[in-house]
Amino acid sequence: MSTPILSVRGLNAGYGDFQALFGIDLDLPEGGLLGLVGANGAGKSTLFKAILGLLPRGRDMVTFRGQPIGHLRTEAMLRLGIALVPEGRRLFRSLSVEENLKLAAESGRRGEWTVTRVFDLFPALREKRHAASTALSGGQQQMVAIGRALVSNPSVILFDEISLGLAPIIVNDVYAAMPAILGSGISAIVVEQDVERIRRMADRLVCLNEGRVVLSGPTGDFTKAQITHAYFGE
Ligand SMILES: Nc1ncnc2c1ncn2[C@@H]1O[C@H](COP(=O)(O)OP(=O)(O)OP(=O)(O)O)[C@@H](O)[C@H]1O
Ligand SMILES: [Mg+2]
Repeated sequence: MSTPILSVRGLNAGYGDFQALFGIDLDLPEGGLLGLVGANGAGKSTLFKAILGLLPRGRDMVTFRGQPIGHLRTEAMLRLGIALVPEGRRLFRSLSVEENLKLAAESGRRGEWTVTRVFDLFPALREKRHAASTALSGGQQQMVAIGRALVSNPSVILFDEISLGLAPIIVNDVYAAMPAILGSGISAIVVEQDVERIRRMADRLVCLNEGRVVLSGPTGDFTKAQITHAYFGE
């Protein structure tokens, strides 16, 4: 593999005295999609928080294009081009769809992803542009959350529970955007509970169990049974 855009090495992280992650290693190839799976409480969201500097971690535990960045604060990580689509979307409830996107665009980096381009990607949002984010369906809220990350023109997006709570047909709509996202040069780590779906999408897989990596490598190396086995820690 050429130099990964994002690497994690020996990452330990936790909350106070509670250690949630133990020696995590992973590599996100440039332009690739890495699927991150694992049962509830395995540490997936904690890993994203640690990568982004929302939890303390060591300088050499995270590298970006080969450079250590584990000492950087969250704002610096965002400026570097690492964006999060958080679990539960977390939109500004008092703002309209368009205002949510414009606010993110203004504070983000300049690049090819504009509010207009997000509306082209998710036409349902163009129709709802003046609606309050509270008036949207779950799927539309997820599209706004993804759009908000895109307009910051990141190099890497961390998608946490991209399809949680969405109807299957809506999940298809959300995933239909992925080729355009990756095609624009963005690399992604996607947390997904649907093992079959992530197997179809991901170049590489990492499975966590109780804070440890229990499976890691190119997706094609693993059978569905192996992934399920790692997932449930049987
Ligand atoms: N703010 C917190 N304070 C203390 N412990 C936490 C906190 N957030 C998570 N944990 C603990 O850290 C461990 C990992 O949780 P985390 O949320 O990262 O798991 P997850 O894989 O994202 O799970 P889920 O699929 O439920 O989102 C769990 O034992 C959880 O209880
Ligand atoms: Mg989580």
